[in-house]
Amino acid sequence: MTRLPTELVDRLRPSLHGKSCCVTGGAGFIGGHLVDALVSLGARVTVIDDLSNSDAGNLAGLMDLEPDRVRFVHASILERSALEDAVEGCDLVFHLAALGSVPRSVEDPGRTWVVNATGTLRVLEAAQRAGVRRLVYSASSSAYGDNPALPKRESMAPEPMSPYAAAKLAGESLCRSWSACYGLETVCLRYFNIFGPRQAADSAYAAVVPAFVRALLAGQAPVIFGDGEQTRDFTHVSNAVAANLLAATVKRSLRGEVVNIGGGERTSVNTLAGLLSVLCERPGIVPDHRPERVGEVRDSVADISAAAELLGYRPVTGLQEGLSQTVRWYRQEIPAS
Ligand SMILES: NC(=O)c1ccc[n+]([C@@H]2O[C@H](COP(=O)([O-])OP(=O)(O)OC[C@H]3O[C@@H](n4cnc5c(N)ncnc54)[C@H](O)[C@@H]3O)[C@@H](O)[C@H]2O)c1
Repeated sequence: MTRLPTELVDRLRPSLHGKSCCVTGGAGFIGGHLVDALVSLGARVTVIDDLSNSDAGNLAGLMDLEPDRVRFVHASILERSALEDAVEGCDLVFHLAALGSVPRSVEDPGRTWVVNATGTLRVLEAAQRAGVRRLVYSASSSAYGDNPALPKRESMAPEPMSPYAAAKLAGESLCRSWSACYGLETVCLRYFNIFGPRQAADSAYAAVVPAFVRALLAGQAPVIFGDGEQTRDFTHVSNAVAANLLAATVKRSLRGEVVNIGGGERTSVNTLAGLLSVLCERPGIVPDHRPERVGEVRDSVADISAAAELLGYRPVTGLQEGLSQTVRWYRQEIPAS
């Protein structure tokens, strides 16, 4: 599903072929694409996921194709013995399991903290006990909060504005401290608004790209919270996958470094709605503006030079190409569109 450039695949394959990996949250949106890529690169993958925000459809297909190389542990990362089972014998852990969505965290901060912060602590403990070499943590650009400086640089002081951002930031601190105290290699990838095929479109907590596409394909107005002039760095999922694979294979030793993973391009929500209405062939639909939501930041765009320097990261799919590919996928998946 995620297409990576051939020269990148050729570079990554020798380091990942035959490696044992655990992907927490591997049934989810980004995790599912990462699992596909790892399997196609020859790795053995164990997924642990409680399916609280996903289903096992993608994994079931992979397990049919590669029964010896894909294993699924249906459990929460908060269940110690299941987690130990999932990471046993692994060289690498990709930690993606989390409760996403800023609004959900505002409604239920305690649950967000337990899964996203305590859950990360548990994954680090299990990884260290199992002798894992490196853990790649899915962090979030929400850590920057409303600091007005742009682009966002890792040297900026974090200013989390929501329980989600606070818990994801705590995960970064835990990763760095596990590297310092226990020698487990860790690296934190601060994603900026990832979108792409298979991202959940049908929940109240849907991210903006799938929510807009779903509305537009149904001939409805996309809902914009606020004036729509807030900006984001919308980043195709192939870029997050490439970043994870580079972070797992880079030769230098890693000690909790934090790097931005984005496309490096700043787009307003109004512009996004315009681009998607053209791609969905609904150019006349006027967005429905509603009041701004609590905890949302105004502007965000990544400086990706640290990821380039540390990991050799550069975006593999641009915004326009990524949006076209994503709309094509939803057209096939959403009936009667
Ligand atoms: N999508 C984005 O734009 C974005 C941006 C920044 C950071 N992130 C981070 O990337 C990671 C993946 O996000 P995603 O967009 O793929 O979300 P997702 O919800 O599709 O994937 C998360 C997966 O974790 C699973 N999960 C939740 N709680 C669990 C638990 N207690 N035990 C085991 N599994 C559990 C869910 O069932 C789901 O399959 C998350 O850590 C998220 O915080 C995502």
